[in-house]
Amino acid sequence: MLFHRRFEHRYPRIVRGQGASLHDDEGNVYLDAVGGAGVAILGHGLEELATQAAESMRHVSYLHGTQFTTPELEAYGERLVALAPDNISHVLLMGSGSDAVETAIKLAYQFYVGKTGTRRKRKVIATQPGYHGATGLALAVTGKPRDRLLFQGLLHEQCFVPAPDGYRRPEESGEACAEALERKILEEGPEDCLAFIVEPVIGASMGIGVPPPGYLQRVREICDRHDIALICDEVMCGFGRCGEWFASSLFDVKPDIIIQGKGMAAGLVPLSAVYASRTLVEGIHRDGGNFAHGFTFTNHALSAAIGLRVLEHVERHGLLAHVRRQGESLRERLRELTAFSWVDDVRGLGLFCGFELVADKATRRAFPRSVKLAERVLQRAMARGGNFYFSIGYLPDGTGDSILVMPPYNVTPAELDQLVAILRDTLTDLDPEVQALSRSAA
Ligand SMILES: Cc1ncc(COP(=O)(O)O)c(C=O)c1O
Repeated sequence: MLFHRRFEHRYPRIVRGQGASLHDDEGNVYLDAVGGAGVAILGHGLEELATQAAESMRHVSYLHGTQFTTPELEAYGERLVALAPDNISHVLLMGSGSDAVETAIKLAYQFYVGKTGTRRKRKVIATQPGYHGATGLALAVTGKPRDRLLFQGLLHEQCFVPAPDGYRRPEESGEACAEALERKILEEGPEDCLAFIVEPVIGASMGIGVPPPGYLQRVREICDRHDIALICDEVMCGFGRCGEWFASSLFDVKPDIIIQGKGMAAGLVPLSAVYASRTLVEGIHRDGGNFAHGFTFTNHALSAAIGLRVLEHVERHGLLAHVRRQGESLRERLRELTAFSWVDDVRGLGLFCGFELVADKATRRAFPRSVKLAERVLQRAMARGGNFYFSIGYLPDGTGDSILVMPPYNVTPAELDQLVAILRDTLTDLDPEVQALSRSAA
């Protein structure tokens, strides 16, 4: 029997997809407003891509990353690096966001072991909230205490600083938020600090967090001052989701390492990427050194072939401009939902959108977590034929509910209308019980 993460849950059995719609074996149709978790960036039923993928599969089954390469692998690497900030010279392909985060941290570590001749630099600083994955190093730097709790005994302790929060701390400037990083580095000792890992636009751990102006630039200055690597985790916000190939470029920042994943292969196969600066790669290669890390499926030829086609498809159809335009339009429509007394702060960039569910807009107080409000919204929306995503428990007291909307890059205005209508009907359904909850929580 297949092992599902949710033991009690009855999963709809999807037999077909087309555009943003999924069809199950009982005749139900779901509007996939999030592409899983921002992965199916071109929607479903991709006939042309599937044909191209089948063609690539006929050539060769598998090549080990230490033995062979292919023209498509090399071409894809060139194309990705050409789109990246100009300090980036190389890219390594991985399978998931988590293994890309592990790789990024090990890359920084190997570089500094070579540079300093010591193993002292090993502390990674991360934001809270923040999400970087489920494997050892990635979970250790994930700023979600709920996720770390069970596995704490297995994890190497890392350090956290508060992430900017424009909704609950709007008065805090970007520079002031970044100062928390400098204080933490000084407290831990710069000579012991290896890297700062940050999502340029925070995703699933806080229902989208766009940083205030100046934040990432100041972070870059601080990292330079103390000689620590800046790792931008763009697994969720990058590769066009915010309307540009690189989310860090939106803030004019050149990280030492960038990580992308999720929709790079439009969900057809697992694919992620670790981009490294020339300084890092040359540093590691100095004296003939090689990178001491890799997986069986690192630089996977078929994944690269599909990734290359996805990139070309996005470019050929001008989808990044579409993401920017449709994103504005989506947020405008979502803002109408703030007519509900418990819906607030529609936020995001491109088609990376979210909003808060709060018990009191004046104080921005969240609902008690025991209410499981975000879960209720998702469940009711699913019953109405809409698939959405949530963030929960991200505030220091363990509360916090928000809903994420991340439709495919080729979403149509009609599909946007439909997804907002499903949300509106869902919130209307829930309104009487949520009003009662707000009164009892007051
Ligand atoms: C910002 C970020 N980093 C890393 C990861 C881990 O990616 P994966 O689940 O593919 O391992 C995620 C997953 O949601 C993410 O959002």
